[in-house]
Amino acid sequence: MSRLQQLKKVIAAPIKAAIIQHHRRGGAVLFSDTTLRDGEQMPGATLDPDEKLRIALALEEAGVHSLDAGFPASSEYDVAAIRKMVGRVRRCVLTGLCRTTTSDVDAAAAALDGQPSHKRGVSLFIGTSPLHREHKLRKSEAEILDIIGETVSYAAKQFDIVAFSPEDASRTELPFLCQCYERAIRAGATTVGFPDTVGVLTPAKVTRFLTAIQEGVPSIRKALIAVHMHNDLGLAVANTLAGLEAGAHVVQCTVNGIGERAGNASLEEVAMAITLHPDQYQRTAKINTTKLAPLCRMVSELTGISYAPNKPVVGPTVFATEAGIHQDGLLKNLDTYLPYRPEVVGSSGVQFVLGRHSGRRAVAHRLSELGLPSDDATVTRVLEALKFAPKGRMIDDNVVREMARAA
Ligand code: KIV
Ligand code: ZN
Repeated sequence: MSRLQQLKKVIAAPIKAAIIQHHRRGGAVLFSDTTLRDGEQMPGATLDPDEKLRIALALEEAGVHSLDAGFPASSEYDVAAIRKMVGRVRRCVLTGLCRTTTSDVDAAAAALDGQPSHKRGVSLFIGTSPLHREHKLRKSEAEILDIIGETVSYAAKQFDIVAFSPEDASRTELPFLCQCYERAIRAGATTVGFPDTVGVLTPAKVTRFLTAIQEGVPSIRKALIAVHMHNDLGLAVANTLAGLEAGAHVVQCTVNGIGERAGNASLEEVAMAITLHPDQYQRTAKINTTKLAPLCRMVSELTGISYAPNKPVVGPTVFATEAGIHQDGLLKNLDTYLPYRPEVVGSSGVQFVLGRHSGRRAVAHRLSELGLPSDDATVTRVLEALKFAPKGRMIDDNVVREMARAA
């Protein structure tokens, strides 16, 4: 580093510290989206650089704070995608994933070249659990601590924003985990991540871990805490929310929850939970929720990974109902059977699906929508016909017309 660069670093240090304190105190949850990296690790979810740019711009539009834009040392496609984002993605911080090696940091620096320094960063990781230490890395605790110290400090010379994550944190012994964090923060990490790499935690255990980390890492207040939850037990969103309640500032998540194995915490579900419960989380999501359903549809289309019909926020049945009592309630007041209106997430309208469970009101409503007679006799006829509709048959407008006509 030249003397001028050193001087700039000295001047920038208090500003950096002030920004961290601002985010620690601030009222917003910082969303760090990893759809383009962890999401793309899902088998079959390959994205081209242009597709990644489209998703990155849509994430920016939705209000995401930072993007885990790729793993530059691992793939030239990731480099190509990041090069497309540099200069185009202006509001989000772009970060490159790195192993704890200086060559990975250099690869990220080259890929991010041209992005303003306050909008680019690196995210370093190394396995810390006994399984990773003994079987994958064959390194002692002391060796791992040294690697963390050296590479984080190397990264901090080139980047103002440096995140460090102990991979498999949730299966790492707590005292050693705390030492890893302390070493990383002392070396210049501005964010420390807590990855539940194989998705084994429960919300109560997340709370215990985060509480213990905040008590056991002397320098923890100098950094932001990020949570990164995998969904192997179907608990990634619940665990992320538990992490926030226990003091995390950043959530790492993916659109539609795509990602390695069972996936990651889904951005849209976490964002809606925080939006609906600001009293509980004491922070706002700062996500433009009206962008969520279109974003989810775009990611599904571009990755080719479809979602279940009942996928929260975006699945085709989440604003559709067939049950008579619900249809009757919804026709009186939409809020009777909805947690939020469809337009809040950028979807349109509640669908009253006709089927065996439908009631008189919904049938009458649908008949008049179609300009058909909705007298008692016609409604009764349609209700009878619905009872005998073959399993799996879609009751579309033409079928309703047929039923209403049939004498
Ligand atoms: O799940 C994980 O541990 C990761 C790391 C790269 C942080 O994705
Ligand atoms: Zn992950």
